Amino acid sequence: MLKGKHIIVGITGGIAAFKTATLVRLMVKAGAEVQVIMTPNAREFITPVTMSTLSGKPVISEFFTANTGQWNSHVDLGLWADAMVVAPATASTIAKMAHGVADNMLVTTYLSAKAPVFVAPAMDLDMMAHPTTQHNLDLLRSYGNHIIEPATGELASHLIGKGRMEEPENIVAVLRDFFASQRDLEGKRVLITAGPTVERIDPVRYISNFSSGKMGFALAEECAARGAQVTLVAGPVALKCHNAAITRVDVESAMQMHDAVVERFGQQDVTILCAAVADYCADNVATTKIKRDASDEAPVIRLKKNPDIARAVGQMKQPGQITVGFALETDNEHQNAVGKLERKNLDMIVLNSLRDPGAGFQTDTNRVTIIRRDGQQWDGDTKPKTEVARDIVDHIIELMKS
Ligand code: C5P
Repeated sequence: MLKGKHIIVGITGGIAAFKTATLVRLMVKAGAEVQVIMTPNAREFITPVTMSTLSGKPVISEFFTANTGQWNSHVDLGLWADAMVVAPATASTIAKMAHGVADNMLVTTYLSAKAPVFVAPAMDLDMMAHPTTQHNLDLLRSYGNHIIEPATGELASHLIGKGRMEEPENIVAVLRDFFASQRDLEGKRVLITAGPTVERIDPVRYISNFSSGKMGFALAEECAARGAQVTLVAGPVALKCHNAAITRVDVESAMQMHDAVVERFGQQDVTILCAAVADYCADNVATTKIKRDASDEAPVIRLKKNPDIARAVGQMKQPGQITVGFALETDNEHQNAVGKLERKNLDMIVLNSLRDPGAGFQTDTNRVTIIRRDGQQWDGDTKPKTEVARDIVDHIIELMKS
């Protein structure tokens, strides 16, 4: 899996830098091309000669190579890489990465890197547990970086706790799994609905909900990154798509979303219904602004039912097609989710409860339970929506294989 891959290994100034020699050795043995970048402090812990010998390439440390007038291009390096691994990552480098500081070659290259970035923290237990470090790690996660959690054990300070850099063999295994899973949706077509719908009452007013679209957009990016051709049918949201494999169809109302989905459903392998579709719309949309009534009489807005898109595609579904729904619940969560799974003929439902802090609308995190049609259930932790998207796609892949 690592054969021919271009990997940047960033080394920062921590005692665990000695383990990075083994890491580079393992990567090279697995067939990867490795470019080592060291921060100035890293050179105090392990020599550039060791690292350039193991990687077979001169180590880069500075923006300029002394006496040659040669500039090391962080932009070219960032484009060259299939992956970047920062190991060990000190609290200081993590903070710089989280906040966009670009004062050395390593963190500057991080900002230029288009490839996935893996961060293996190593530090003393109190630094690791400090809310600042934890917050910075959360920021890095929210930007889609992969954090390789440190292990618990004896630290260089002889204290026992969480902060030991993960063993090189395990870091290589994480990369291997990543590259194996990376294109597991190659050739597949995935349709995703996201965001709220907006139901007009008159030319200036509407009924809607608080959905931000973040979960659906994270799913679209994840599926596209794994090789799928994605169609994202989005209600009005303030989000952008990044991957060129995503075709975005912007809609406003539930009816428009229904039509856009039904028209395309036949060509899809997987359809993920993540949108918070308004259940009702105005029976009659006023063509002019509804005026305040002089007679203190409150107007009555008559509503009619919107189509249930999930149910509609559930009825159209052919063997081999997979549909996945969401259930955002406030009570009787499990029972309600299973009811929806059956009523809408879904293969899988992703349940989130508004009772869980850090779950639901607007937040950057989510906590989900995934329930499959065959009754299998999986409970996730509270994590950034980008990582929840990864978990959901992993489960869809499993479902496709079963
Ligand atoms: O019934 P409820 O709205 O709670 O179901 C939620 C699931 O159904 C979500 O997957 C949502 O995207 C989908 N849905 C839909 N069309 C609707 C209502 C919900 O596709 N009109």
